[in-house]
Amino acid sequence: MINLLTKAGLIMNKINVFKQSAKIVFAAILFLLAKVPINAAAGDALSSVMKITGILTLLIIIVVLWLVIVIPDKSVDLNQAWKKFKHLVISKSTLATPIENEQEILMDHDYDGIKELDNKVPPIFNLLFYGTIIMAIIYIFQYHLIGTGNIMQDEYQEEVQLADMQRNLLIRSGAFLTEQTVTQLTDNSAIAAGQDIFMKNCASCHGFKGEGLIGPNLTDQYWINGGGIKNIFRIVRDGVQQKGMISWQSQLAPKQIQEVSSFIMSLEGTNPSNGKAPEGEQYSEESKESI
Ligand code: HEC
Repeated sequence: MINLLTKAGLIMNKINVFKQSAKIVFAAILFLLAKVPINAAAGDALSSVMKITGILTLLIIIVVLWLVIVIPDKSVDLNQAWKKFKHLVISKSTLATPIENEQEILMDHDYDGIKELDNKVPPIFNLLFYGTIIMAIIYIFQYHLIGTGNIMQDEYQEEVQLADMQRNLLIRSGAFLTEQTVTQLTDNSAIAAGQDIFMKNCASCHGFKGEGLIGPNLTDQYWINGGGIKNIFRIVRDGVQQKGMISWQSQLAPKQIQEVSSFIMSLEGTNPSNGKAPEGEQYSEESKESI
């Protein structure tokens, strides 16, 4: 009797542990589901689903590990339990007749000693078969009757739209800027960003005010390689290697080159006190237009 009671107690204990773990998993699922944005774009939703699947798998692994550690009940032979479970799953999913009863379903023909068993169709095959029928019905509804399914053209359009969006984003980020497409930025934040880049990278040769040191004065109207945003952008990007002006394209992104070039443009006419003598040719508005 006492034995029975302790056994019952053990079982209750296990059920409680299981209930608790189930609660935790359930709460975690709810928490994660609440995090999925309802009207997220298709791509976002997909990545959320993938993230959640990943997290759930992890959770399940943790819970199983935890169960194994929390209930190290020596009286339960895990190996035996696993075998039983496996046997149950296999027998239920195949409905195979146990070997000892095979005589009952043995068919009466014999081909060169090869005999045939009249086994039941494994439910798993039936599941596949009925599954295809169900899928076909859903398909007919979705694609032919309601028309909510994406046909190839729609998918293509979606891809194109997505690519367009990415392209626009890249263009806006300035990744495709060239001397042909670059424009002078005049907003304060861009000029400030340009100034920052200038102070860190360029002031050592061009002076903190652009007055010129090793490099030429950048505040006058005289330019060795041509003035205007397009020329300046090109020179900063490509450099003038043989004269000691390095190419900055490996260190600055096109957007940053645009910013520092715009900052240089904003220096024109600031006339710093210790300015270096003009070098090159005067660059006028008209010739700027023609570039
Ligand atoms: C190691 C010194 C050095 C550094 C650092 C340097 N430059 Fe220069 N830079 C020069 C020299 C020298 C020239 C003159 C090239 C020539 O004679 O064609 C020059 C030329 C230029 C010109 C063309 C001027 C003209 O009159 O055509 C621009 C624009 C310019 N630099 C911008 C920059 C910017 C922006 C940076 C920082 C990102 C920078 N430089 C960093 C040395 C430097």
